[in-house]
Amino acid sequence: MRRIPINIYEYAGQILEQLPKGILLSSAANGKMDTMTIGWGTLGTDWSLPVFTVFVRESRYTKVLLDQNPEFTINVPPKESDVRRILGFCGTKSGRTVDKFKEMNLTVVPGEKVASPAIAEFPITLECKIIYEQDQDPAAIPDEIKRRCYPTGDYHTAYTGQIVNAYLLVGDF
Ligand SMILES: Cc1cc2nc3c(=O)[nH]c(=O)nc-3n(C[C@H](O)[C@H](O)[C@H](O)COP(=O)(O)O)c2cc1C
Repeated sequence: MRRIPINIYEYAGQILEQLPKGILLSSAANGKMDTMTIGWGTLGTDWSLPVFTVFVRESRYTKVLLDQNPEFTINVPPKESDVRRILGFCGTKSGRTVDKFKEMNLTVVPGEKVASPAIAEFPITLECKIIYEQDQDPAAIPDEIKRRCYPTGDYHTAYTGQIVNAYLLVGDF
């Protein structure tokens, strides 16, 4: 197995095109790890740093882990792959009760600069360290979006991760 360093901005189009269909956000803390499907996120620049911001609802087990260890990886599948079953599973089951890596036969690869894992089947990898986080302020969200996205009041926290490492996983695992 090799990690081939990538230029984030050369892969930005592919990452952002895949995002609404689902990519994975992986986390780890205190001997536990988890991965969940995300469809929302922002790849860009903040404070002159390359960043990826994820939006994680209060109810997610991922939030528990991110709050214990402020690091995550973003895992993006290859263009030609069919990962709908994995994205469906990781987007509906919680790491509180299920080992999603095991159930989906995902090959866990240790992160290089963060404790959160990379995933061989989702080889485009961004390793991120959280440098800013903010709970969404319900009062600042338009009423139409509040009705549509937050009927139960399960709001998001925005976690901005500085991208500290970006690579493609290749070869045998
Ligand atoms: C396509 C898709 C996109 C999703 N995007 C997000 C997201 O951006 N933020 C979020 O909090 N949950 C999102 N979810 C829901 C979580 O993936 C889901 O609740 C998951 O079971 C949480 O896992 P966890 O409890 O192990 O963290 C999405 C689900 C799907 C299927």
